[in-house]
Amino acid sequence: MSLVNSNDQTLIGLGTAAIGRPLYINIRYKSNELFDLNQFKKRGIKILDRAFDMGVRYFDTAPGYGMAEDLLEKWIKSKSNAQLEVATKWGYIYTANFDSKARQHEIKDHSLNNLDTQWTTSKKLLPHLSTYQIHSATLDTGVMSDDRVLEYMFELKKSHGLLLGITTTGANQIDVLEKAAEIQNDSIPLFDVFQVTFNVLERSLLNSLITLVDQGRRVVVKEALANGRILPNENFQHYQDLYNLLSVVATKYDVGVDAVAIRYCMDRISPFVVLSGASTIEQLESNLQARTFKLSDEELSLLDEHGVSPHHYWEERKKLPWN
Ligand SMILES: NC(=O)c1ccc[n+]([C@@H]2O[C@H](COP(=O)([O-])OP(=O)(O)OC[C@H]3O[C@@H](n4cnc5c(N)ncnc54)[C@H](OP(=O)(O)O)[C@@H]3O)[C@@H](O)[C@H]2O)c1
Repeated sequence: MSLVNSNDQTLIGLGTAAIGRPLYINIRYKSNELFDLNQFKKRGIKILDRAFDMGVRYFDTAPGYGMAEDLLEKWIKSKSNAQLEVATKWGYIYTANFDSKARQHEIKDHSLNNLDTQWTTSKKLLPHLSTYQIHSATLDTGVMSDDRVLEYMFELKKSHGLLLGITTTGANQIDVLEKAAEIQNDSIPLFDVFQVTFNVLERSLLNSLITLVDQGRRVVVKEALANGRILPNENFQHYQDLYNLLSVVATKYDVGVDAVAIRYCMDRISPFVVLSGASTIEQLESNLQARTFKLSDEELSLLDEHGVSPHHYWEERKKLPWN
């Protein structure tokens, strides 16, 4: 199997949410395994190593992902590779302290004060840090019209040569994306990177993303597997037709359905990066098989038919547990 992405330029990056904290939004049943922080760290490092060995050079992290930033910062020091890129974010504070019974896992805080505090830690990722994003930018927190926040970020851009970005979540991703794309500083667009949810089920941003890609701006796709909902699973039987189609295509290319779902994002919009959210080495290896084939126009069109409304998609996501 060739791992070279010879078909196009889209990279597969590794998202570190699943290796930074033991609980995350997914479709798994609750595990009764006792949590061991040291083992968890070791497993995270092994996944990072395997990703690196398999050619992954883009890593996405955030202070909201528990120990992910810290793990990545220490790990990256052992790699002298100038091509390694890290994207982090500010805006969520991790509060669960690795306690599976925590009532609250994270707190959203889009204040200038929190930006200043989180930057103090995140800047340790320099010089590999290429991208600094507002985590889950929304219209209601006012973050995108807070001049002091935008000015602070602009200063970081100038002094560290960073790309600035936003990440979006929710049924109104499009409104946030369009507002962010228009913000300028010194007549130059402020944001260069747009990390969004896009997948076979949630395709509402399709045209906006193609426009951003055409403008030369970086689109980063997260949740390409819809937090696991795209993988055949008895709790989501209303997606059975999609599961059947994915399975036929996966068999044809001799890959897993996860690879087909990731490949769909690559071929549909040619983003800069699609993030793998793998929580094990096996998942990572399977996700990376998306680099070994290309979907035909007919397969893309058949998959297009399985998109659902953003309202349905995000209502269903809200019900997914932290496992
Ligand atoms: N900016 C934001 O607000 C935001 C939000 C979400 C994610 N992100 C970023 O995007 C990255 C990817 O997103 P994500 O992890 O939420 O979404 P995802 O890729 O849609 O889903 C990952 C889920 O798929 C499962 N999975 C992956 N490969 C599998 C395989 N081969 N077989 C079975 N299950 C498989 C994992 O399972 P298990 O967990 O059950 O093992 C995990 O729950 C994150 O790590 C993070 O860096 C950003």
